[in-house]
Amino acid sequence: MRPQSTLTVLGIETSCDETAAAVVRAAGVGPASVLSSVVASQAEAHAPFGGVVPEIAARAHVELIGAVIARAMDQAGLGFDGLDGVAATAGPGLVGGVMVGLSAGKAIALARGLPLVAVNHLEGHAVSARLGGEIAYPFLLLLVSGGHCQLLDVAGVGRCRRLGSTIDDAAGEAFDKIAKAMGLPYPGGPALERLAQGGEPSRFVLPRALLGREGCDFSFSGLKTAAARLAEGVVDPIDRRDLAAAVQAAIAGQLAERTKKAMTVYLRDHGGADRRLVVAGGVAANSEVRRVLAAAAEAAGFDFAAPPLAYCTDNAAMIALAGAERLALGWIDGLDAVARPRWPLDAAAAADNPTHTPGRKGAKA
Ligand code: KG4
Ligand code: ZN
Repeated sequence: MRPQSTLTVLGIETSCDETAAAVVRAAGVGPASVLSSVVASQAEAHAPFGGVVPEIAARAHVELIGAVIARAMDQAGLGFDGLDGVAATAGPGLVGGVMVGLSAGKAIALARGLPLVAVNHLEGHAVSARLGGEIAYPFLLLLVSGGHCQLLDVAGVGRCRRLGSTIDDAAGEAFDKIAKAMGLPYPGGPALERLAQGGEPSRFVLPRALLGREGCDFSFSGLKTAAARLAEGVVDPIDRRDLAAAVQAAIAGQLAERTKKAMTVYLRDHGGADRRLVVAGGVAANSEVRRVLAAAAEAAGFDFAAPPLAYCTDNAAMIALAGAERLALGWIDGLDAVARPRWPLDAAAAADNPTHTPGRKGAKA
């Protein structure tokens, strides 16, 4: 690693159904710029099955990874000698895919004598909002993706404490399953958001689980069952639009309500200081989710940040940035780093909760 204040890192992401590579230049936890970000989605290959098929994903990663990395380097206008390090997702996720990206990262690191950083995919989401502008540590994070729904107190690089998580489905999983029950194409979240546009959410009454209950945990299974049952009898296009709007409002409402509870806990733990709320993960792309969270943050006197839309769903820029932050601290990994299907961000909560419910995309943490 050359002695300098900024680091240029190649990121590689293959934990689910996106084969992605990106080059990011970052000054530790300071400002970051994305020199390139390439995402090859496999959505079309999985669409006929209504979800991700691990074997198809792993094979597709093998076919795509070389070209995706080459395109990311090309678009950044760099050769491998212009890099300070390589960061690859090492989990959690579908292990066949993780192995493909991690092996590619190791090969480049070995061949070019570059340091390797084995990145936790969730840490990538945790830092993704910084790709849109600087956000100081610590902050309260709502991480909402297809496999995860967690509230975390993020104290610094690699230092997270879980305040709450879902006791059944993740929020993205709820979007996907309800969308499927409504006959919408995979992936369901964006399709459901499009259908909900201009809809009247109050026309359908849906369960609001855990409303008013203590703690910061989530539950979406009751909503999922109720919405799927309703969907069977709803065929009129206007009714379908309104049902989609009601589902979206119910999910967004629960996310906001539990986040308000977490803001209270966070304020107590931080003596009222460091009021920052960040939302990240695929569901953070949903405009209603952003709207209600921004309102909740404002009411509590928190600054609110979400990643640029391109960096909400899986991408490699967030992996490169998480890698750069670790590299700046000298935290590098050996070429014996292993692919981990499960890898919780916070070791303490993991010990308390070793059997976290597997998500749509397989057991993740
Ligand atoms: O972060 P991500 O790309 O992958 C995981 O790490 O899981 O998140 C994917 C999830 C899917 O469940 C997808 O339906 C959901 O994010 N999603 C959305 C939207 N865009 C993606 N959910 C609701 N509204 C959206 N606009
Ligand atoms: Zn993700």
